[in-house]
Amino acid sequence: MPRPIEIAPSVLPADFAKLGDEVAALEAAGVDRIQWDVMDGQFVPNLTFGPSVIAAARRHTSLPFEAHLMVLTPDAMASDYVEAGCQRLIVHAEACTHLHRTLGHIASLGATAGVALNPATPAIAVAHVLDLVDLVLVMTVNPGFGGQQYISSMEPKIAEVAEMVRASGRGDDIDVEVDGGIGPDTVKAAVAAGANVLVAGSALYRDPDGLQHAVADLRSRANA
Ligand code: DX5
Repeated sequence: MPRPIEIAPSVLPADFAKLGDEVAALEAAGVDRIQWDVMDGQFVPNLTFGPSVIAAARRHTSLPFEAHLMVLTPDAMASDYVEAGCQRLIVHAEACTHLHRTLGHIASLGATAGVALNPATPAIAVAHVLDLVDLVLVMTVNPGFGGQQYISSMEPKIAEVAEMVRASGRGDDIDVEVDGGIGPDTVKAAVAAGANVLVAGSALYRDPDGLQHAVADLRSRANA
């Protein structure tokens, strides 16, 4: 049974001066979850949300929060982001010396775990941890900034990850997520390759017909 299509907006393009209103607007626009792009200025050359910012937005929506931890020290930060109200933590395989242990640590905190792969990292990096995650994120840009060009050469890797998930026997439990340059012109190919959770930022916020239209349009293109 294919996993349902879900829209997970990035709040990077949102107005940081009113994040509570912004997450409420995303919920009203029909998204399925909120992705917080947490950046530490070291793993990626940008600095974004600490746990207190996410905690402040938490009471403004009932949607699930997932923290995309683009940080060098995910083990040290994990509990803070769970306490801030994130139900899922996504860590980068490239940032974890002991990825298997880190994913188990996230589960011990009562959150679910996802693992993210940068464009240059092969799919095989997640081969031995699929029993510990409910999401694999295939980055379709190099992390750090919104508004970048979708890297279409990631499509074979999306397909490879989707096949690994299916072959693991946990295909009904694991989402394949893509993040970076996802919009009306790229979503079809990403879904055809095997993605079912779509992270989008700029494509949602630049739609002249507003968030609701952008979310519905992306979903309908993904389901077509
Ligand atoms: C990169 C970020 C972006 C963001 C989405 O580190 O993770 O991919 O979420 O950006 P857009 O949708 O604007 O490409």
